[in-house]
Amino acid sequence: MDGTTLILNAAERTKAAELLARFTDSYENSLTSRPIAPDADRETLTKLLAEPFPEEGLGVEAFFADVVDRIVPYTTTIAHPRFLAYVQGPPNGISPYAEAIAAVLNQNCNLWQISPAANVIERSVMDWLTDLFALGPSSGGLLTNGGSGATKDAITAAIADRRPDFRERGLQETRAPLVLYTSDEAHRSVVKAATLLGIGLANVRTIPTDDHFQLRVDLLAKAIADDRAAGKEPFCIVATAGTVTTGSIDPIGPIADLCEKENLWLHVDGAYGALFILADSTREALAPLSRADSITLDPHKLLFAPLEAGALLVKDMAKLRAAFAFSSTSSYLTAIDDAHLLDYMDHGPQLSRSFKALKVWAALRTFGVGAFRTTTERCLSLATRLGSHIAANPGLDLMNPVTLTAVCIRMPGRNAEAHAELLTRLHEEGTAMLGPARIRGQACIRACITNHRTTETDIDLLASRLTTLATR
Ligand SMILES: Cc1ncc(COP(=O)(O)O)c(C=O)c1O
Repeated sequence: MDGTTLILNAAERTKAAELLARFTDSYENSLTSRPIAPDADRETLTKLLAEPFPEEGLGVEAFFADVVDRIVPYTTTIAHPRFLAYVQGPPNGISPYAEAIAAVLNQNCNLWQISPAANVIERSVMDWLTDLFALGPSSGGLLTNGGSGATKDAITAAIADRRPDFRERGLQETRAPLVLYTSDEAHRSVVKAATLLGIGLANVRTIPTDDHFQLRVDLLAKAIADDRAAGKEPFCIVATAGTVTTGSIDPIGPIADLCEKENLWLHVDGAYGALFILADSTREALAPLSRADSITLDPHKLLFAPLEAGALLVKDMAKLRAAFAFSSTSSYLTAIDDAHLLDYMDHGPQLSRSFKALKVWAALRTFGVGAFRTTTERCLSLATRLGSHIAANPGLDLMNPVTLTAVCIRMPGRNAEAHAELLTRLHEEGTAMLGPARIRGQACIRACITNHRTTETDIDLLASRLTTLATR
């Protein structure tokens, strides 16, 4: 390396491109033979990866050698077709390239003037998403770093909508406490967001769910009435489309009716499930999301964008702007109101923002929307297949109705430790990586098919191994 600049010369660029191509090829070709979970201990990794940085650069080849020899062996093989843990899948084929190009261009997607093409690309991705959910002509949204962030931004907008003087007065003064409602199956990011925003856990109601893990609207209505009678101020309901453990979809239509009647903001956390609107078999169940004031969804889940890409959609973009625009008080940044060119810094908490939209836009154009319809439908049908295997097996209990792609499995009469051992055994022998879950206090294991590489053969192999291991 030259040692005085931070630029690669032509030969180094060619080398880097060659090594990158070699790396992506060999990674792709070795996916199924790699261990799904790495064998790593902190001490070995620290020795290997936390050396002091050299004063003189080691060069391009040394970096790629580090990737291949020291990093990749200690990573989880998310793209293994039987990685079925949490709600995470492998990237689609083109998005990693788009991500690299976004890094080369390094657009700052805050003001449209300094990132015009990126601005229109993000807008076109958001228009496609808001159309999918039929959110109407005033709708819009923006990409976020994930579902948790999107939900926090949505609740921020809900507070600002309820208390237009929120910016001036905050929530410190004594007024009726604002109350937020969600279900006992909601993702923890909902409670976390409400807490971070100053709502206070004492003002978050986690409403019980029914046998299908769906929020009970009768109990919700009662909780709202009780809170009003106690002098509190209900302001927001966070329903879930695709609960993280069981994939159930709250009764969004009746909840929307209640929100209208009670004048409450309806946010739907669809981080896991909303994008199943792409699949024919779940489109109708998700159609009532059109009535939401805001929706969280995650392109880094079902659009298989590499992390990070979440999204917040809102029915009325002006409400997002009312919550987040501070430009008029900014000394050096100006905002231009143009229906087509949005200053994203005025619609969310971030100033500097990466060009996340490129990887989503690239995938939609490269593969076409149809490929995502097929893929989401295939994930659903693989989950049904796994659910049927489990239900047909007397040695295993299927713990949830398979609404989306989460399948929770229990060995009857066995404790939490036995389920933890089962998980370890499955991934140590290379069968699959599943995650732990707890349903109504009972330990179980959970497969979530958010993986576009999983096949029927993978599912059958997993089911057969589960049968053997559970009956031992
Ligand atoms: C229902 C639900 N909400 C929120 C989240 C959090 O999303 P993220 O990890 O993108 O912040 C998840 C993650 O799996 C989820 O399943």
